Amino acid sequence: MIKSPTVCSFALLCLATFSHSDTSTSSDKKHQLQLIQMKGCASCHGTKGQGNTMMKGPKLAGQTQQELARKIKAYRSGERNNPTMAMMTYSLSDEEIENLAAYFSQFK
Ligand code: HEC
Repeated sequence: MIKSPTVCSFALLCLATFSHSDTSTSSDKKHQLQLIQMKGCASCHGTKGQGNTMMKGPKLAGQTQQELARKIKAYRSGERNNPTMAMMTYSLSDEEIENLAAYFSQFK
């Protein structure tokens, strides 16, 4: 009686795990898009890194993941001095920075 719902929920869990790994590329992209929206980068840099002149956000597209990650880390450490970007990056983890950089580097 009690056993069957337990088995059922385990099966669902497995199913969810499998379908996640099957579509890893598209769900990674979706995850990265959620990250840029959540972190607010898109309001100044655009959802595709195209930039936003009204917000004075420069274009990020067309740069490699390494370049972008290096620049974001430089704002976080204060090596690059910009109050807006310092505020936007101070709480980011290295992993988040890599994800954000990977996201914006996919656009031309
Ligand atoms: C309120 C507007 C605003 C937001 C939000 C914002 N930025 Fe910026 N960003 C700027 C401005 C302005 C600059 C140019 C700063 C400078 O002169 O160094 C910049 C510069 C950058 C650069 C360097 C571009 C280059 O080629 O030199 C990167 C990379 C960057 N931002 C990434 C991000 C990421 C990632 C986020 C989200 C975590 C973000 N920004 C959020 C305004 C913003």
